[in-house]
Amino acid sequence: MSFKVIKFFMGKSFKTFLKHTAKDFHNQSVNPPVVRASTIIFKSMKHIRKTQDKAKKNPTGGHYDYGRQGTSTTHILEKILTKLEESYHVFTTPTGFGSVFLAIFSLVRPGDEMLVADPVYSPTRSLTQDYLKEFEIKTIFYNPHDLKTLENNITKKTKLIFVENPGSNSFEFQDLGKIISIAKKNKIFTAIDNTWATPYYFKPIKFGFDMSIVSATKYYSGHSDVMGGSLAVNKKVFNKVRAAQMITGLRLGPDDAYLITRGLRTLDVRLDRHRENAKRVAAFLSKNKKFKLLYPYKKDSYNFRMWKKYYSGASGLMGLKIKSKNINSVRKFVNSLKLFGYGYSWGGFESLALHQEFRETGNRRYLYLAKDEHLVRLHIGLEDPNDLIADIKQALRHLK
Ligand SMILES: Cc1ncc(COP(=O)(O)O)c(C=O)c1O
Repeated sequence: MSFKVIKFFMGKSFKTFLKHTAKDFHNQSVNPPVVRASTIIFKSMKHIRKTQDKAKKNPTGGHYDYGRQGTSTTHILEKILTKLEESYHVFTTPTGFGSVFLAIFSLVRPGDEMLVADPVYSPTRSLTQDYLKEFEIKTIFYNPHDLKTLENNITKKTKLIFVENPGSNSFEFQDLGKIISIAKKNKIFTAIDNTWATPYYFKPIKFGFDMSIVSATKYYSGHSDVMGGSLAVNKKVFNKVRAAQMITGLRLGPDDAYLITRGLRTLDVRLDRHRENAKRVAAFLSKNKKFKLLYPYKKDSYNFRMWKKYYSGASGLMGLKIKSKNINSVRKFVNSLKLFGYGYSWGGFESLALHQEFRETGNRRYLYLAKDEHLVRLHIGLEDPNDLIADIKQALRHLK
């Protein structure tokens, strides 16, 4: 694989770049081959030293002497993602949660404090609230819609602000500009979980975040059959993350890197369609008085304003906040959906539904969910939106 080929397409628009980059002219294949290696063989010891010197001088240049540093297959994916993110570099990890862990592990040490958005993905909450506590790292959760709870909890020990936007399952959009200016004023590192939008709709590093996480399991791979994560960084944190990746061994394998690169070819096409389909479904759902639609559709809300201010588009994941004392009718509504599968990992081509019962969100501090309120999460896939709307319509008859 010639890296010159990548360089040529680096100058093109992202949509063109995605279709043409990383072709393997040497092997005459459109996609680059999977290079699997634990041992990298060199012609001589001199060759090893030369490669190591090159890696020192150009640490993002794809020079390896050991499989844990990746192979050309991971390097190609990281280069493509670096262009998409407009970041200094992107590290890839075996899962999205691996990237969450790597981001935190790179920067936070015993005695430090972290400020974390209250509605983060629940494993991120468990990691920061419970597990890191055992390592004497204190986490304070802030209210995504009241940044005084962020600003007032900053101390000399605060090392990292960890944002997820929008909030997991409850879909709060935060004032990202304000968060960055608070962080810069207080010299605190920032990380964001940007899985919902991907850098196709919002570019965190360009905006001012130090680190940005995407679960590649979702829209990047797009076909619900591979796990992976990406961690984009600016120059300031690059060395810290690189060292942490080597020490934890959190590196994406070449077969998964290949599949994610293949999925990325159509990222723009799929996300455009997810957005269009979700908009059609949101237009239908927004008319129903039985629930509140959790999606940036209605122009009159704070969430919509915050989304509009920072994002160029919306993906296919949305929520419904349903108030009903009749939990069985909510269950019946969800269970009557025929085109929606029931499953957790969204971002594939297919539609999904989940009923998040109170117990699944009950550990939050600021979630305004009463015991008779329910969250239903819908992932709007690439099916015909008319069929999806018809399916939701028939299922809604059961909601009392
Ligand atoms: C917002 C968000 N971040 C991170 C993850 C973790 O990604 P993975 O399943 O690839 O570990 C998920 C998975 O659902 C997620 O929804």
